[in-house]
Amino acid sequence: MDLQLAGRSAVVTGASRGIGLATVRALRAEGMRVVAGARTSPVELTETGATVVPVDLSTPAGAVRLVERALEELGEIDVLVNNVGGTDRVQNLAFADSTDEEWYEFLELNLMAPVRVTRAALPSLLRTRGVVIAVSSGDALTPRQGTPIGYPSAKAALNTAMKALSVELGARGVRVTTVSPGATRTSLWEGEVGARFATAAGVAHEDFLAMLPTHAGVLTERWITPEEIAAAITFVASPRSASTIGANFLIDGGALRSL
Ligand SMILES: NC(=O)c1ccc[n+]([C@@H]2O[C@H](COP(=O)([O-])OP(=O)(O)OC[C@H]3O[C@@H](n4cnc5c(N)ncnc54)[C@H](OP(=O)(O)O)[C@@H]3O)[C@@H](O)[C@H]2O)c1
Repeated sequence: MDLQLAGRSAVVTGASRGIGLATVRALRAEGMRVVAGARTSPVELTETGATVVPVDLSTPAGAVRLVERALEELGEIDVLVNNVGGTDRVQNLAFADSTDEEWYEFLELNLMAPVRVTRAALPSLLRTRGVVIAVSSGDALTPRQGTPIGYPSAKAALNTAMKALSVELGARGVRVTTVSPGATRTSLWEGEVGARFATAAGVAHEDFLAMLPTHAGVLTERWITPEEIAAAITFVASPRSASTIGANFLIDGGALRSL
């Protein structure tokens, strides 16, 4: 199927690894022009041919700067993928130990970064009748025991914000959609944050990585790949999905057991 994306323009946040990098690769493979935002620009990202904008998206200035550079490079924005989120800092896991600072960090990266980047890109998205795709999390629908609850709380707020925005913008030609991954093997799990979860569970990091999909209820009993999430994002970005507005696609290997 021709996804009719060739030549169109996209901005991807949190693009240097994991789901963001897989999304840049998938959009580039469709012939899109891509501006990629992250704090670092590893060779895996630069070799995609995307234009990399080094930027800290936990700050208001970072969000504005990314969109300004994207408009200089691309002219207009057809597709915005608000992927940045999660955390790369080891947080307190128990609610009683959580600090305001930790809560605000989750909110800055998982809610306010998408809000700010979308707001800055909105004039262009209205001109192009573009698409906004937010990467949320299955955790917003089924909070998992042991995850700091600032994270699913911020993602739940993101889901609501994107649904409300889809209503506000749908009639003006801009589609807003959410994609919610389940357990996806990325540096989030392979790095310090995953190691902290393993310690809390009382198992070695390697064993934790081996058991997590089954423990999380993933019916395939394996990790979801970043490429699987990127494929869904690419399809939603396509004009082939012209009537997909306000949906929340859950890609969690069947882990959520409610309707
Ligand atoms: N992996 C999962 O199991 C899973 C499940 C559900 C939802 N998600 C969601 O999927 C999205 C991507 O997750 P992932 O697992 O791919 O994460 P990841 O491997 O930790 O990658 C995070 C990306 O975001 C960038 N980033 C982090 N902080 C940033 C900041 N302040 N400014 C700019 N860029 C920043 C990182 O690049 P730099 O370090 O270069 O800045 C990196 O490219 C997140 O929204 C996450 O919540 C993931």
